[in-house]
Amino acid sequence: MRPVCAIGDTMINDAIFSSARTDWGTPKKLFDELDNEFHFTLDPCANEQNHKCAKYFTESDNGLLQDWGHETVFCNPPYGRQIEHWVAKCYEHAGIAVMLIPARTDTKWFHDYIYKKDRVEVRFIRGRLKFGGAKNSAPFPSMVVIFVDASGKVF
Ligand SMILES: C[S@@+](CC[C@H](N)C(=O)[O-])C[C@H]1O[C@@H](n2cnc3c(N)ncnc32)[C@H](O)[C@@H]1O
Repeated sequence: MRPVCAIGDTMINDAIFSSARTDWGTPKKLFDELDNEFHFTLDPCANEQNHKCAKYFTESDNGLLQDWGHETVFCNPPYGRQIEHWVAKCYEHAGIAVMLIPARTDTKWFHDYIYKKDRVEVRFIRGRLKFGGAKNSAPFPSMVVIFVDASGKVF
């Protein structure tokens, strides 16, 4: 496991939280606020229990390989190295895609697809989220990233 931010318990918790499970649910209040704003139509990384939209893809569908069309996407991806692929897919999506991801501002994917990019808005979350299915708050900061399609409907 890759150390993420510090020594001791924080580092261990971060590694466990990030890698051991991939199905941490989006906090309902946060999802509802975003859904009121964007009206999502597709959750491309989900399972039968935790999908946030009527239309969704599961691991066996592999949402990364699916055509997202012009859907309005909410994406809380499985954490780990694969995040980069989800960020790239949202960046290239021909519609609005809103991601909930760890605020890892030192990563390649943050700089390649998010930081100072046109059509991308970042909302850093104050405090730490308590994800669905988790006993404690996350040991890392989170952010909501909004990717707007080329026609620029939001900004
Ligand atoms: C962090 S959870 C998010 C769950 C839910 N969409 C939410 O926002 O609360 C990520 C979900 O993606 C699913 N998943 C993992 N790999 C996937 C893939 N390649 N394609 C689609 N879903 C995948 C996991 O099973 C898990 O349910």
